[in-house]
Amino acid sequence: MFNKNKKIMTDDRLDSVAIITDGNGRWAQKRGLPRSQGHIAGAKIIQSVLEKFREIGVHYVTLYVFSTENWKRPKEEIDTIMELAYTYLDQVVAKKIKEDNNFCVKFLGDLSVLSEKLRNKCIEIENMAKDKEFVCSIALNYGGRSEIVHAANQAIKDGYTELTEEIMSRYMYTNGTPDPDLVIRTGGNFRISNYLLWQSAYSEYVILDTLWPDFGEKEIYKAVEDFYSRKRRFGGLDKEE
Ligand code: IPE
Ligand code: IPE
Ligand code: MG
Repeated sequence: MFNKNKKIMTDDRLDSVAIITDGNGRWAQKRGLPRSQGHIAGAKIIQSVLEKFREIGVHYVTLYVFSTENWKRPKEEIDTIMELAYTYLDQVVAKKIKEDNNFCVKFLGDLSVLSEKLRNKCIEIENMAKDKEFVCSIALNYGGRSEIVHAANQAIKDGYTELTEEIMSRYMYTNGTPDPDLVIRTGGNFRISNYLLWQSAYSEYVILDTLWPDFGEKEIYKAVEDFYSRKRRFGGLDKEE
């Protein structure tokens, strides 16, 4: 069983976690509130979730904030999410990076179509600190398929005529970040929704019914415990098999 008071220091240790932060809209609807309130509630818990994973010994957390398919939503909802992202980066994240020398943020996705204001804020945040002990990656206008196509096109532009897995990995937005050991999806749906298609080839999946704004310590321990109960084989066999 996972011992929350003890950091696990083996090679099988949980180091990289990716989360599909789903369920904000349902959280709001259940309370008779507009969906925007669910997104606000969802943003509020991010910092404490990151700190909890950090306490457990995780060094990389990747959050799915907005997918390339989320542009299909009503303009009003998209505007709320983008405004919220700006305010959160400007007020919470910038302050955190200033105060915490071991924390940095990186963005995954095509930032070119975001508003200039938001894109500049993302670049500013990324430039504030790099390669720190704890890395939070934010997938914003991110899609796994478009990332793979983008990576291949970039490699071609750089003159490659033949690609390898290693070359492709270097051209991914996630270059430098270990593939997720664990992918958690809140909100109860058993699907990948175009998230980290390349990187999650051998990730363990944990799906929780809990809606993202309700995701807390209890759910984190449940997911981590579940992760440690799995036998990861990566296509091979265990020593004793
Ligand atoms: C996830 O919550 C956040 C984004 C996709 C931006 P949803 O807004 O998808 O919430 P549900 O799935 O409708 O409850
Ligand atoms: C996945 O949730 C994207 C994010 C959490 C940002 P969605 O709500 O967009 O996924 P689907 O539509 O249920 O597959
Ligand atoms: Mg959803």
